[in-house]
Amino acid sequence: MIPVHVAIIMDGNGRWAKRRSLPRAFGHKEGVKVVKKIVKVADSLGIKILTLYAFSTENWKRPHSEIKFLFSLIKQFIKKELEELNNSGVKLRILGDLSKFPKNIIKEIEYACCITSKNIGLELNIALNYGARQELIHAFEEMYSQGIKKITEKMVSSFLYTAGQRDPDLVIRTSGEFRISNFLLWQIAYSEIYITDKLWPDFTENDLKQAVVTFQKRKRRFGGI
Ligand code: IPE
Ligand code: IPE
Ligand code: MG
Repeated sequence: MIPVHVAIIMDGNGRWAKRRSLPRAFGHKEGVKVVKKIVKVADSLGIKILTLYAFSTENWKRPHSEIKFLFSLIKQFIKKELEELNNSGVKLRILGDLSKFPKNIIKEIEYACCITSKNIGLELNIALNYGARQELIHAFEEMYSQGIKKITEKMVSSFLYTAGQRDPDLVIRTSGEFRISNFLLWQIAYSEIYITDKLWPDFTENDLKQAVVTFQKRKRRFGGI
């Protein structure tokens, strides 16, 4: 079975650049090229939901210049790719708190989400200013403000940014780090995890296929026998 929902922690852009004695920005630029490719490949493999971790709530600790550059790349990506994404039926969703982003980027993103909202192809989630703990706090606050007293798993799920979407079947992390870095903590309770040493800018179509093949060999038990 092809995993329905694949979530990727795209890590290693900075190290990719460093290995080439280039500024980190070059790694991020190369990383965007890989995003474009992987979105297409995921769709052609039959993956229905692709979640990409692009900027975490902890990434604000980075130098202002790097954050600014990342924002400009995100804006450029949305602007340049919107038409093609829309034509191929991609439905864009943002996971995270956009309110801290510059107004012009928020406008661009909201427009892209709105334009693609009725599409029925690949659901592309981009996690931006995303942190799983913050997402849970946000959900609890919403439930509290709506006076909800009966809290169930379904209820919590329905207040997350991923509301209505199936939990990830497969989580991929590049750059060889064995950690989750505040990504989808609730949703990945039973996801299969695949870690590759490849740095994100080096991640290829074949690497995605390899991850899928590995996933297919796993025996998911969900606590059963
Ligand atoms: C991932 O690459 C991209 C973001 C977190 C925005 P990094 O920038 O974290 O690259 P490394 O981990 O320093 O190599
Ligand atoms: C995780 O990468 C976040 C994104 C890919 C956006 P980081 O580079 O921020 O994670 P740590 O600091 O290595 O845990
Ligand atoms: Mg990193």
